[in-house]
Amino acid sequence: MLIKAEKLKAIFAPRSVAVVGATARPQSLGRAVFANLLYAGYGGCAYPVNPGVKSVLGVRAYGSILDIPDDVDLAVIVVPAAAVCDTLEEAGRKGCRGSIVISAGFKEMGGEGVELECRLQEVARRHGIAVVGPNCFGVINTDPAVSLNATFSRSFPAAGRIAFVSQSGALGVAALEHAAQEKIGFSKFISIGNKADINENHVLAALADDEATDVILLYLEDLEDPKEFIDLARKVSEKKPILAVKSGRTKEGAKAAASHTGALAGSDETYDLLFTQCGVLRVETLEELFRLGMAFTHRPLPRGKRLAIVTNAGGPGIMATDAAVRHGLELARLDPATEARMRPHMSPAASLGNPVDLVGDADEARYREALAAVLGDDGVDEVIVIVVPQMNTDLGAMSRVIADAAGGTDKPLFAVYMATGDIERPLRLLDEAGILHYRFPEDAARALGAMAHYVRWRKRPHAGLRLFDDVRPDVVREILAGAAREGRKFLPEPEAHAVLGAYGLPVSRSRFVRDWSEAAAAAREIGFPVVLKIVSPDIVHKVDVGGVRLGLNSEEEVRSAYAELTAQVAAAQPDARIWGVFVQEMVGRGKETILGMKRDPHFGPLLMFGLGGIYVEVFRDVIFRLAPIRELDARNMIRGIRGAKLLKGFRGEPPSDMDAIADALLRLSQLVTDFAEIEEMDINPLIVLPEGHGARVVDARILIRK
Ligand SMILES: Nc1ncnc2c1ncn2[C@@H]1O[C@H](COP(=O)(O)OP(=O)(O)OP(=O)(O)O)[C@@H](O)[C@H]1O
Ligand SMILES: [Mg+2]
Repeated sequence: MLIKAEKLKAIFAPRSVAVVGATARPQSLGRAVFANLLYAGYGGCAYPVNPGVKSVLGVRAYGSILDIPDDVDLAVIVVPAAAVCDTLEEAGRKGCRGSIVISAGFKEMGGEGVELECRLQEVARRHGIAVVGPNCFGVINTDPAVSLNATFSRSFPAAGRIAFVSQSGALGVAALEHAAQEKIGFSKFISIGNKADINENHVLAALADDEATDVILLYLEDLEDPKEFIDLARKVSEKKPILAVKSGRTKEGAKAAASHTGALAGSDETYDLLFTQCGVLRVETLEELFRLGMAFTHRPLPRGKRLAIVTNAGGPGIMATDAAVRHGLELARLDPATEARMRPHMSPAASLGNPVDLVGDADEARYREALAAVLGDDGVDEVIVIVVPQMNTDLGAMSRVIADAAGGTDKPLFAVYMATGDIERPLRLLDEAGILHYRFPEDAARALGAMAHYVRWRKRPHAGLRLFDDVRPDVVREILAGAAREGRKFLPEPEAHAVLGAYGLPVSRSRFVRDWSEAAAAAREIGFPVVLKIVSPDIVHKVDVGGVRLGLNSEEEVRSAYAELTAQVAAAQPDARIWGVFVQEMVGRGKETILGMKRDPHFGPLLMFGLGGIYVEVFRDVIFRLAPIRELDARNMIRGIRGAKLLKGFRGEPPSDMDAIADALLRLSQLVTDFAEIEEMDINPLIVLPEGHGARVVDARILIRK
């Protein structure tokens, strides 16, 4: 991993580059790439390689990379797919450390292309060359000392603080053109194409300590190694923000599954939580990606989420407020002294709460006073200044006032000019002062909201993974092995209870029995009231076949319930093998919740939490996280469902024992992380009692891999 990241750095800043397949033929990729290298003013040595020609664009050409008299760091390959492996082989013999394979015709084509890509990987491995691509758009480094444009782009971006990583080549082209138009500068640009060797994880690791990069933007279609991505992105986003567009936001049809958890887990949502758990901000569109990316290059980042708005029109102030709240900001409560400071300079009609409405006739002098006052208020973390041009608005003068204000503060100050027409010069003044400006207040609020969110994420308590040591993996191993020996995939309630109990989950007092007299004895021991449930390896939903009897208050009731229960189940499902009956303590009034797990082949175990009963089935009010989870994840899961209010205590009901839920989630996380053979599970319900009284698992089922 680290070695590849190091090699990638050599690709970003090579001392010499050979372009194999360079040609002077108009309209060819080989020409575009070599020309770009020259015209960007590359700081090292560039060599065209093409056996058929003497020179390319005035530079002496070589018949083979091996003929080049000097060392070559980087081989950019633009030859037809069939010739790529031999070319890479020569690059390896030449001692190149890296290669960018622009040629297409590999995995993306299927068939022979797949084979060709395997061969390419083999050559790369054998020579220890780091390969970007194939089927990619290339790499750009705008560092003036390097000035590398190893792409076939028509434009070379300005230098900036954003690194952009794109899985799609074509999209990379479009992105560069968009960026040029929007005057967005890049530090580095890298198109990873088919990811035969270098993937997004290597790039992240390399960009983590890249001093030219403040923000990392990703355009991804899939993740090569999601678990590694989580670990890496979590570390990298401590240092710099990562924003991502992950395309393919379609639902993988939720297929019928044996557990609630299985039916509710979807693949796109999984990406959402993967990004959430490692601090990556997921956005929907490329435009948003770049727009927010720009905002994140702004330094310093806000300290918190308390926003002040200064405006000369009420409506836009309200829109900014709504958007700000929607994006997680709150309106700062201005200090009375701030208002007192502004008042003497303002029109009597001005309303000096937050939003500060200077009203329509405000000139730049009033804005100056207002900005100085709110920026000086300790309760304000960031400011949006809105200007709607009116009779005596001079936008040029306004820009200078805003630039002055921004120069004297370490708080973000974003401008919104709700204007069209001749605003180029005023906007240029803002650009020159490094002030971000927007046409609409919502966009400014969105950007500041995202920044404040990132800052909050970075400040979160950094608890490591907590591992419980009072667990009994040996017990679990034995139960799972027993089921596997019998060729069973399904663990009925008593086995599931034993597995959960071994990991310290609060299972209810229960006994497995085989006849009514054992049942009566068990009930006496457990204490009335009790519950009887049918135990069968063939019955997943017990209630559906009349296999559950609640609230039995005496031995007599247990005895008759036993007979009824077994008769009813036998009638409902005559071929079911009946092992016996589970006698269980009847847990008193509490809130029914569901905890579950479904193992995703790509992402690993997904944990689920939600309210039980109709809340799961009708409202799908559940939340997922990828295991292993940390304490904070567990708390956020509990807080994150829409029905969280019901657990906090509502209309005189006592608050539920949240600590017990968090503890159960963490133990479940450890269990499913330890045992990869557990495929799916539902704890439905975990009955949560009032605060201080814990929770009880009263039903559980586990599915294992056969
Ligand atoms: N020990 C208990 N104490 C209190 N209530 C219980 C107990 N056991 C079951 N219940 C109640 O009975 C309901 C059905 O029981 P159980 O979950 O065991 O049946 P099930 O058919 O497996 O249900 P599902 O398929 O929905 O998970 C539970 O959701 C709960 O409300
Ligand atoms: Mg149940």
